[in-house]
Amino acid sequence: MAEISDFADARDQADDAVHPFWFIPTHGDGRKLGVAEGARPTEFSYLAQVAQAADRLGYEGVLIPTGRNCEDAWVVASSLATLTRRLKFLVALRPGVSSPLATARQAATLDRISEGRLLLNVVAGGDSTDLAGDGVFLDHDQRYALTDEYLTVWQRLMNGEKVNFEGKYIRAEGAQLLFPPVQEGGPRLFIGGSSDAAIDVTAKHIDTWLTWGEPPAQVAEKVAEVRAKAAAQGRKVRFGIRLQVLVRETEEEAWRDAEKLIEDLDDNVIAAIQKRLAASESVAQQRIVALHGGRRDKLLISPNLWAGIGLVRGGAGTALVGSGENVAARIREYRALGIEYFVLSGYPHLEEAYRFAEHVFPLLNIAGVKKPEVKVKPGRAGEAGEHFRAGGHAHSGPS
Ligand SMILES: Cc1cc2nc3c(=O)[nH]c(=O)nc-3n(C[C@H](O)[C@H](O)[C@H](O)COP(=O)(O)O)c2cc1C
Repeated sequence: MAEISDFADARDQADDAVHPFWFIPTHGDGRKLGVAEGARPTEFSYLAQVAQAADRLGYEGVLIPTGRNCEDAWVVASSLATLTRRLKFLVALRPGVSSPLATARQAATLDRISEGRLLLNVVAGGDSTDLAGDGVFLDHDQRYALTDEYLTVWQRLMNGEKVNFEGKYIRAEGAQLLFPPVQEGGPRLFIGGSSDAAIDVTAKHIDTWLTWGEPPAQVAEKVAEVRAKAAAQGRKVRFGIRLQVLVRETEEEAWRDAEKLIEDLDDNVIAAIQKRLAASESVAQQRIVALHGGRRDKLLISPNLWAGIGLVRGGAGTALVGSGENVAARIREYRALGIEYFVLSGYPHLEEAYRFAEHVFPLLNIAGVKKPEVKVKPGRAGEAGEHFRAGGHAHSGPS
């Protein structure tokens, strides 16, 4: 288990420091794919157990996804923030679904409530049907064009400016955050997306670029591309990877459990899901599907990297499978490519959070999980609101 030490900052800066994140399964969990037996509903008390386990085990944060098959990421993060002490919340943010002005206020409030533990994962979206269900009818590149405007306004608000903006998709007049976020400049921005449009947005606005769990050689190519585009903008970007994990005491045990996880999957279900995933508009998703083509005999795509979960799951479909020593070695390989953030999960999420932390954390230089120093600044309107100040005006705000 990671220790919270006074040396956390120095360790964070070491060039082998790993920032481990876990995942909150807001679209359900279970111990076997494709069967109802052992499935766990998304009850809040269970999500709280997963978050509290991640908090005490020393994960730096948790990713909370967005999509119509998920519980709402913001509401879940707000509730979990009050039940955890150090854990950061990497909350999915979907430009296009809501105004950047109102969402920036929501983010600043959540940053204040969580005492500086909010991070944001910008999700432009890769599934038109899913997006249409949320009222977004833009095509792939239009969504990124909107995201570019959204983040331009967002960053100005987070920097304390009063914003007037007239773009193609976004308009603001006198927008301002009266209650600033705890973190200087606002919560750090992450993004997942491998298209040219995603990388352009990353180069301009994003702190950390995330990839799905591709083999190291493919990851290295993308890292070089993102780095070069960011450098052309005079910026530096950090990197992260999203992987499933299945770690056991021995290789044999791990591979046996990996096979068990998918043994009840129906071939017709696999074929139907693969057809849908192959037609995805998301370049990141297309790259993952291309690695195995949905074939059960092609699931080992690189040493200890297994695509079994991707037979029926979009997105994070690849897993590091093996003994603690071997999985730690694979993580060090990614780390050497510049990957610092490891956003992990496994089925079931509670048990696998423990297994990974117990088997692998002691073998890595886990970045410190020190709670950020908190400086909650007073809001410009005054913490208690003008109507409580002596000599203040009559209350004219919202009732
Ligand atoms: C690590 C990671 C997490 C993601 N999380 C979500 C999510 O929660 N919801 C969602 O709809 N898309 C999610 N995506 C998809 C991307 O945000 C993006 O919309 C999609 O890949 C399309 O972009 P692309 O064509 O540039 O790859 C995620 C992608 C990555 C790599």
